[in-house]
Amino acid sequence: MKGNSVIYSLFLSTSLFLTNCEKTNEPVKNNKIENLLSQMTLDEKIGQLNQYSIGAELTGPGAKEGINKIKYDHLKNGKVGSVLNLLGAKNGRETQKFVVEESRLGIPLITSYDVIHGYKTMFPIPLGESASWDLELMENTAAVAAKEAAAAGVMWTFAPMLDISRDPRWGRVMEGAGEDTYLGTEIGKARIRGFQGNDLSDVATIAACAKHFAGYGFSEGGRDYNNVYLGKHQLLNTILPPFKAAAETGVATFMNAFNDIDGVPSTANEYLLKDLLKEEWAYDGAVVSDWGSIAELVPHGVAKDSAEAAQMAITAGSDIDMEGYTYIRNLKQLVESGAINESLIDDAVRRVLKLKEDLGLLDDPYKYFDEDREKEVLLNPTHLALSREAGRKSIVLLKNEGDLLPLKAKNIAVIGPLAKDKDSPIGNWRAQGEKGSAISLYEGLTEALPDVNFSYAQGCKLSIGANDFAHEVEIENSDRSGFKEAVEVAKKSELVIMNLGEPAYMSGEARSRSEIGLPGLQLELLKEVYKVNKNIVLVLMNGRPLTLQWEAENIPAILEAWHLGSMAGHAIADVLTGKYNPSGKLPMTFPRSVGQIPTYYNHKMTGRPSTEPGMVFYSHNMDIENSPQYPFGFGLSYSTFEYSPVSLSKNEMNMGEEITVSIHVKNTSNVDGEEVVQLYIRDVVGSITRPVKELKGFKKLMIKAGESVQIDFEIGEEDLAFYRKDFTFGTEPGDFEVFVGTNSTDVQTATFKLN
Ligand code: BGC
Repeated sequence: MKGNSVIYSLFLSTSLFLTNCEKTNEPVKNNKIENLLSQMTLDEKIGQLNQYSIGAELTGPGAKEGINKIKYDHLKNGKVGSVLNLLGAKNGRETQKFVVEESRLGIPLITSYDVIHGYKTMFPIPLGESASWDLELMENTAAVAAKEAAAAGVMWTFAPMLDISRDPRWGRVMEGAGEDTYLGTEIGKARIRGFQGNDLSDVATIAACAKHFAGYGFSEGGRDYNNVYLGKHQLLNTILPPFKAAAETGVATFMNAFNDIDGVPSTANEYLLKDLLKEEWAYDGAVVSDWGSIAELVPHGVAKDSAEAAQMAITAGSDIDMEGYTYIRNLKQLVESGAINESLIDDAVRRVLKLKEDLGLLDDPYKYFDEDREKEVLLNPTHLALSREAGRKSIVLLKNEGDLLPLKAKNIAVIGPLAKDKDSPIGNWRAQGEKGSAISLYEGLTEALPDVNFSYAQGCKLSIGANDFAHEVEIENSDRSGFKEAVEVAKKSELVIMNLGEPAYMSGEARSRSEIGLPGLQLELLKEVYKVNKNIVLVLMNGRPLTLQWEAENIPAILEAWHLGSMAGHAIADVLTGKYNPSGKLPMTFPRSVGQIPTYYNHKMTGRPSTEPGMVFYSHNMDIENSPQYPFGFGLSYSTFEYSPVSLSKNEMNMGEEITVSIHVKNTSNVDGEEVVQLYIRDVVGSITRPVKELKGFKKLMIKAGESVQIDFEIGEEDLAFYRKDFTFGTEPGDFEVFVGTNSTDVQTATFKLN
């Protein structure tokens, strides 16, 4: 019990002080940190900035070998401030006890983990869930993920990913909210509120992390870890708003990014981390590096060795070194040689200690380690029910010709390599989601429709070596032996449900693709089945937008079902049967072909806008039209909605005033349905070129069959502001167009003038 005496006497005196002066909470909090800091040696300070990935074995028999030995010694000597991947209340408690009791000051560890779309109960992948446009739902699923993670001893998640991404080749699009800045900002805030709740020290909440700061979603060619080229206006207007909003929402931490931006790696980017985040935005939380990203300044070619990398990163404002070994190896020498000032380290340590204090660790290092709570909370039935709700709300109906859906047929063939796959719906970044634990589509359907006669054929295999996080997914490209059976069952059925798409590990980190059609033999299989039965409902499971030209043209009904998590099969069955009327809208454009990329709705006009098909000298491809396969915001329902013309409360707006935009939306069908009414704005003439339209608001609401509702949006100055030519933020007088509609292309318009 070396460390305890020092740290606990400190806590005791501070908490005594607290009871006497309840109203002076802030200075007291700081005193606690300052007192602690004043007792720390330089080594101990640097230790707080050092983060290791460790498993339970560190305190067990394997602890004394190789790299584990180093980590073990560092834990023992107060040279580790936080760890990632240490899971479970029991393991966590043992390791915490080791650190608290063995190290001189006994400063508790923070445990962290990638809790991206659930901990044990899996929710839809973030891109899929974003299709729900349901902020309350996303806040709730993040809150449940936090509750489960915290019960298993995790205090800090590396989520939400706030990278705006417009390139579906990039595998990590599955982790974010898609291509739009406004939607991404609102979803980011909801997820942060969900993870963190109102009180970080509550054992049902965890610290969140705004990542990857910044520009990672723009990696060239969609290839992960690749370089990024961005203009500063694009950075300020498109990429940074979700991060700024996250800081304002009180996100506990930030993570820097693997990429450079125009030659400057984000990890060592003083402008981003210091000037903007810590100074202009006055952010007082900690910035963690991405995994090894400080050490990667060497291969980037901006630092000659690990010492220089450490110097650049700490100077820029990266506070914690995740598995990079650069701070622990070099910072002491850098301070002692005068290359860096110790005050830089003090600032970073204060941020880490503040997080520990906010998490309640300085009062009780063991509060997150309770095995009884862990048993009670994980996979609680209410969590599974929420997963099913999130799943069905995330599904997007892309096509429903001839009202093939909801299902009416009594004799149905279910075909495809994903139909009985209980693993792929769990998705990538599955935390502790158990392998093969999802409800498959086949299970969901057969349970939902006991009176229907189902037959099944796999048709083709999707992958070899898939579902193994450590390996590349190899797609099966030659075995057609299952085609015959698939064609046979299709022939005998009234209707075919084809379940095709990507396996879980085909999207996510390091899973970029150069072609984004259905992988392997699936399209070939689909065409074979189509020859014998055209009544096909295509259910897609995938982690990114796909190119679906043939499918969109020929298949009568298409449902986008992403990787929906633990209850995927039930959620899809709810939609197929009509128990739930689909309401999802795409958070990312589906291009017609890879060559069209980037294809996103809020592009600029260009000097030669593509408004006149058939003309040669305008911005287009000769071999494909400019419009996407499915635009941003698109999604059908079993209901039909009719939009009235849009009306404005006035046609001129003075600075500081507001305009009300009103529209009537009528449900013209005989089924109740939810609609996401979307508001877009265009600034017609600006000091820099402006997007053709930008989402500025949306409302998701239930409209009963036959009912008409009025929807109002208020437009204020803030909605019209942007980073102008001179990089100041504000509005510019002139003409604006307003668009309201069911997606980004089918809209009603009106105009007004800003004076
Ligand atoms: C990813 C991060 C993640 C970290 C820790 C990195 O490879 O880029 O997003 O949080 O690993 O697992």
